[in-house]
Amino acid sequence: MADVTLVPADSIELPALTALMNEAYSDYDLPMHVDEGAMRFMLSTFDLDRAESRVALDGGVPVGVALLGLRGERAWIGGMGVVPAGRRRGLGDTLMKAVIERARARGVREVWLEVLTTNARAIPLYERLGFRHVRRLDVLRLAAPPATPEGVSTESATVEQVLEFARLHRRSEEPWQREEGSVRNWVRDGLALEATAAIRGGRTIGMALHRIAAGRVSMLTLVSMPGQAAFATPALLAAAFRPEAEQGLRWLNLPQDDAASPIVLSLAPECEASQHDMRLTLENGTSLGRHDAPQPQREERLPER
Ligand SMILES: CC(C)(COP(=O)(O)OP(=O)(O)OC[C@H]1O[C@@H](n2cnc3c(N)ncnc32)[C@H](O)[C@@H]1OP(=O)(O)O)[C@@H](O)C(=O)NCCC(=O)NCCS
Repeated sequence: MADVTLVPADSIELPALTALMNEAYSDYDLPMHVDEGAMRFMLSTFDLDRAESRVALDGGVPVGVALLGLRGERAWIGGMGVVPAGRRRGLGDTLMKAVIERARARGVREVWLEVLTTNARAIPLYERLGFRHVRRLDVLRLAAPPATPEGVSTESATVEQVLEFARLHRRSEEPWQREEGSVRNWVRDGLALEATAAIRGGRTIGMALHRIAAGRVSMLTLVSMPGQAAFATPALLAAAFRPEAEQGLRWLNLPQDDAASPIVLSLAPECEASQHDMRLTLENGTSLGRHDAPQPQREERLPER
């Protein structure tokens, strides 16, 4: 560890950061490969702050990374990993502590992350740092549209209408990747989104936002009025399907406490993965313990471990 230093992630070029992510995730439980375009998309959509994120260099070579997203008083770990040859030397722990300290310095109160329920290496690391399981998130795929319930129709709407409806009627929080901040970034970056309303008895009972790309529908938001989820959810799912989306509909990180969750699960979707949604609450002056990261400088030399 003598030659290991932590540097802000904007001190290495995008191709090097992309290569580092791919090497760190090379033996991940799910296939994970990004190109520079996907990396740029993630940085932009998820408000990942390269200057506050950290890269570990061993003798000048990038060996680990922790990407930090910032939105006001909330932060998100948008990816973290250590290359296989650099593991079990305390680097994952040190990188996490460094970005948590940066979040704290920026006034953050809560740091969020998702971790695959099968990730036996990362879960103990996060628990040790004080992250707690909040709820389960499912990555689901529906091959075919459900039947639209009788008496429910759908019509197109605007993104702003869906966001306002969601603000008024949402009962469970969306995960970081699909919450309003991400939707606004997609709109800013010119991504085409489709907005739909479900109507029953002359009233709007639900609204949804989705995107069609790479042969599949991605569900971004689906919110229904209290007591109307059983009507609105299938109707909005059915309306989102398109013949060109031959790979069906994917819903990334549907929270188990979302009113749509039991309805979608009853449609027997393929469950690609389940994740723990985890949160670390930062209180003023809370210490991370004996491995506390030093106050971040432009370059930080790590203590021997
Ligand atoms: C998870 C990961 C980042 C850990 O990095 P690391 O540098 O090896 O972790 P550290 O050496 O700092 O270990 C810190 C703690 O994590 C836990 N941990 C790390 N590797 C572990 C393993 N193979 N089995 C069980 N616990 C493990 C332990 O609690 C460990 O503390 P200890 O060494 O005192 O027992 C690394 O395995 C990795 O990059 N995996 C692939 C990418 C990934 O899964 N990223 C997380 C996405 S959510």
